[in-house]
Amino acid sequence: MAEKTENALVRTKGLKKYFKVSGRWLHAVDDIDIDIDQGKTLGVVGESGCGKSTLGRVLLRLIEPTSGKIFYDGNDITGYKGTQLKKIRSQMQIIFQDPYSSLNPRMSVAEIIAEYMIVNRAYRRKADAFNQAAKLMDMVGLARRYANLYPHELDGGRRQRIGVARALSLNPKFIVCDEPVSALDVSIQAQILNLLMDLQEEMGLTYMFITHDLSVVRHISSEIMVMYLGQCVERAEADELFRNPVHPYTKALLSAIPEPDIETRNKEIKVLRGEVTSPIDPPAGCRFAPRCELATENCMTDAIELVDRGGGHFAACVNLSGQRTN
Ligand SMILES: Nc1ncnc2c1ncn2[C@@H]1O[C@H](COP(=O)(O)OP(=O)(O)OP(=O)(O)O)[C@@H](O)[C@H]1O
Ligand SMILES: [Mg+2]
Repeated sequence: MAEKTENALVRTKGLKKYFKVSGRWLHAVDDIDIDIDQGKTLGVVGESGCGKSTLGRVLLRLIEPTSGKIFYDGNDITGYKGTQLKKIRSQMQIIFQDPYSSLNPRMSVAEIIAEYMIVNRAYRRKADAFNQAAKLMDMVGLARRYANLYPHELDGGRRQRIGVARALSLNPKFIVCDEPVSALDVSIQAQILNLLMDLQEEMGLTYMFITHDLSVVRHISSEIMVMYLGQCVERAEADELFRNPVHPYTKALLSAIPEPDIETRNKEIKVLRGEVTSPIDPPAGCRFAPRCELATENCMTDAIELVDRGGGHFAACVNLSGQRTN
């Protein structure tokens, strides 16, 4: 009998995804535990290559995990195959960063939105799928006059609305939003974020929201996980993470967010030293240590654990464990 979880719609336990590269192992996702409650959003933040997209894809079972478990709605779906997998996949969708490359340029807006419904035989008649596509266009704020246009005829914000409508077409409960606003102008970013938040409220959706930009996730996320080279280095409720960041990497990411307030604009920006080290066969110890100003010799060798610093605020840093700084 599959293990039942409490409120979490999506949960992972010790999730790992390693890729074999020239006979060695690239640790893209390395021992990740997450819990996302129904109707909530987990923001996942980190620099390019830290494993965010891989985590999203493994969760949706688009790629196979190396080890660990994935639970959906209380059921262990790690080993699901065939019709069982197909059924669960329709409840879990993804919205991509670049709406242009993820939309078929030869299909009209209505055809793109209706496609999943037609392929999955959600309706007996194609006309019903197109009727539903028109309703989805209303829901995401796309005027119906765009139905027969092609993606290249629309701007980036409207293209992303097509991506959102398509993701909603099979009535999912969980959506991985993989950098959905990173390719958009700042003014359009806010519109898409607001749309996603409105839809979440109306439909009780659960999101994993991936971004390299911490400032984007503050308002949309219930909880935020900061990743570094495949691992979670800090995880906390969103406001708590911004108010009281403890990991040196999180602090550096936060200090790089531009200040809108002229009074506080002179704050010190912690420049991250050096490059991200290789994720291939990473050494024991803290993966951030080579760039960390607090690092001691122990950091290079000691295994680090995510420690609960109280109230569900977890951080993985040997210099912090056991003591709260405020
Ligand atoms: N199919 C693959 N084969 C080999 N390595 C891969 C594969 N997919 C991803 N990787 C590697 O896994 C690591 C994590 O990649 P991933 O795309 O998940 O990062 P990301 O955090 O989404 O980065 P970005 O912000 O650039 O989108 C990277 O080192 C990447 O090169
Ligand atoms: Mg990515």
